[in-house]
Amino acid sequence: MQEAIILVGGKGTRLRPLTNHTPKPLLGVAGSSFIRHQIAKLMDAGVGHVVFATSYLASLFEEEFKDFSQDLKISYAVEEVPLGTGGAIRNAARLLHGTSPDAPVLILNGDILSGVDLPTLLERHEERAADVTLHLTRVPDPRAFGLVPTDGSGRVLSFLEKPKTPEECVTDQINAGCYVFRRSVLDAIPADREVSVEQETFPQLVAAGRRVYGHTTEEYWRDLGTPLAFVHGSADLVTGRATSSLVGPPSEALIHPTAVVDPTSRVTGGSTIGPHAVIGPHVVVDRSIIGAGVVVAEDARIHESVVDHDSSIGRASLLREVVVGCHAHIGADNELPAQLRLSCGIRIPAQGVRVSGTAAACPTVH
Ligand code: GTP
Repeated sequence: MQEAIILVGGKGTRLRPLTNHTPKPLLGVAGSSFIRHQIAKLMDAGVGHVVFATSYLASLFEEEFKDFSQDLKISYAVEEVPLGTGGAIRNAARLLHGTSPDAPVLILNGDILSGVDLPTLLERHEERAADVTLHLTRVPDPRAFGLVPTDGSGRVLSFLEKPKTPEECVTDQINAGCYVFRRSVLDAIPADREVSVEQETFPQLVAAGRRVYGHTTEEYWRDLGTPLAFVHGSADLVTGRATSSLVGPPSEALIHPTAVVDPTSRVTGGSTIGPHAVIGPHVVVDRSIIGAGVVVAEDARIHESVVDHDSSIGRASLLREVVVGCHAHIGADNELPAQLRLSCGIRIPAQGVRVSGTAAACPTVH
């Protein structure tokens, strides 16, 4: 039976405040929690047992899957203190059922949306009798990433820090956050301290001459760790740029059957509207995620933003690349600039924040 580990213990700090109460893999993406899309992909690849390596808000994973009745066994390896990506893998391996030292174990980061074909990745690993096979993806601008050059046979030559100069950009291949480990290699990761698989384990394996290979693909790939990547990943699933067996045919929007959307509104670009949300007249929602119970008043415009559950957006307010925490209230006629993050429960009065001037009379007596 093929087994897998999903790393889901990170705090997801770059997605705060969405991750203040919900771990990143449990955030809603294209109508389901992100981890459910990953589970569906693993099941399609024939995985029969998955271990969640949890730490931050660990109990919420068991809560999410308490009624899970499909043909997949789920185990939970809880870290009292986060062990880093390498330590987490080692700790989760305790719960794997297989005992063969050569068994291939699939490892997935819990925040990567990817079109990689997992059975092919496993096949390449077996063909090369590899110790570790990493999925590698190509990026147009490698400067923000550690690089993974390979030789003609796909063997990894080194793991390089983020390049600072054009000369240091020796490849456009980066670690795509999905691996196959030979079980014995996985068991050799130290168990008594925090370990980073990217910074310690992989470079040490290459330096020791172990068989570390890359499997480079051109398929869809996105790390959902930042707010903009998160909304884009969700929109890509809805519009069909990225695929998941949990999402229906490609469409402009995914509107929950209990949501109410005024017919004069436009919901586009792969936006999702959650359960019981209410979208008023002449509203524009583009490439955004609107959570459960959110109320958006008339003439508001929301672009590339996330509005978490039970918040409200006032009349004619404009949001662009904004993250609104849950139970927040944004009054009418606000104009919120890119990169703004609004804490859960915050209240912004009408015209409280604007990028451009307003013609409305000033309410203060001068
Ligand atoms: P940021 O805080 O925004 O960087 O997000 P993050 O905490 O998720 O960190 P990062 O994106 O670097 O983590 C990559 C993957 O590894 C994610 O799926 C995390 O959940 C997971 N991860 C990171 N650190 C740990 C850890 O100490 N334990 C476990 N179990 N998983 C981890």
